[in-house]
Amino acid sequence: MDEVIIKDLTKRFGDLTAVDHLELNVPAGSIYGLLGPNGAGKSTTIRLLCTLLNPSEGTASVGGFDIIESPVRVREITGVMPEESNHTLYAAMSTYDNLEYFGKLYGVPEAEIPGRIEELLSFMGLWERRDDPAGELSTGNRQRLALCRALLHRPKVVLMDEPTSALDPIAAKKVRELIIGLAEKYKQTFFINSHNLAEVQRMCDRIAIIDKGRILLSGKTKELRAKLQATQNFTIRVNDDLERALDIARSMEFVTSAEEEVDSIRVTIEDPISNNSTLMRSLLSKGVEIIEFAEQEATLEDLYLDVIKGGVM
Ligand SMILES: Nc1ncnc2c1ncn2[C@@H]1O[C@H](COP(=O)(O)OP(=O)(O)OP(=O)(O)O)[C@@H](O)[C@H]1O
Ligand SMILES: [Mg+2]
Repeated sequence: MDEVIIKDLTKRFGDLTAVDHLELNVPAGSIYGLLGPNGAGKSTTIRLLCTLLNPSEGTASVGGFDIIESPVRVREITGVMPEESNHTLYAAMSTYDNLEYFGKLYGVPEAEIPGRIEELLSFMGLWERRDDPAGELSTGNRQRLALCRALLHRPKVVLMDEPTSALDPIAAKKVRELIIGLAEKYKQTFFINSHNLAEVQRMCDRIAIIDKGRILLSGKTKELRAKLQATQNFTIRVNDDLERALDIARSMEFVTSAEEEVDSIRVTIEDPISNNSTLMRSLLSKGVEIIEFAEQEATLEDLYLDVIKGGVM
């Protein structure tokens, strides 16, 4: 079953089409990453899904409820972490009281509220700050609190707009682990906007790349990564003479790009299994001393940059 179904969803602001006939489905229990550059339409998509904005055309359903026909039901079953986490928190209220107020509003059984708050605040390292006004928390801590808020009522669907943008690497990792655990344990579905490719690659089982309000590419993370196996990046460290190594690499027809880095060159090779030894031999035969010839792990970054530049389609 698909927990989020987006059909022909379009949002215009005057002449600007922020979301352009978007189509995508998010299977229940999956962690779906929506990736795209600034202004791509990611936040607008989330605002449409959580019923903060009305579409200009098309519609979507969240947890089986249509965003236009049943916005109240949609809000009941979703947890939202907006781009500006401040917007959902009351600055003068304490960290604890923010969550308590929200829990009551969303009908969490009263007896369960204190336990859930303590569990979430402790997990996010905020328990000691429970009596501090939310407005006095640091940006990252406010983002942690917004995360607790989005999860407190155990929503079926969680919509998150760059949930770790203000978090330090340790907190970001904890959040990723939490999300993966929740998707598995409670079959909660996560729809996450991000710029952070490494993070999406680690956490999301499906991704879509969006630009100018349109999906350019989507699929299972594993399958997209497999697309990258056709080419492979190598870092070649050589003893000085980077220029010559670059010239040699660029002269080979199977090398699709060669760039200089600090003390190495980075090359992309087509059909690497048959071609990398050819490159290595060629460098050696021309007197380039190779210190290291290292294969780089294929990352979504290469695919992402290609897609955004219009290279893959
Ligand atoms: N309320 C609004 N009024 C007018 N234009 C808007 C409004 N909200 C968004 N836009 C425009 O719609 C486009 C998409 O914006 P959106 O915030 O969805 O992008 P985004 O992908 O979230 O970008 P970022 O990565 O910077 O957060 C942008 O060109 C933006 O300027
Ligand atoms: Mg945004």
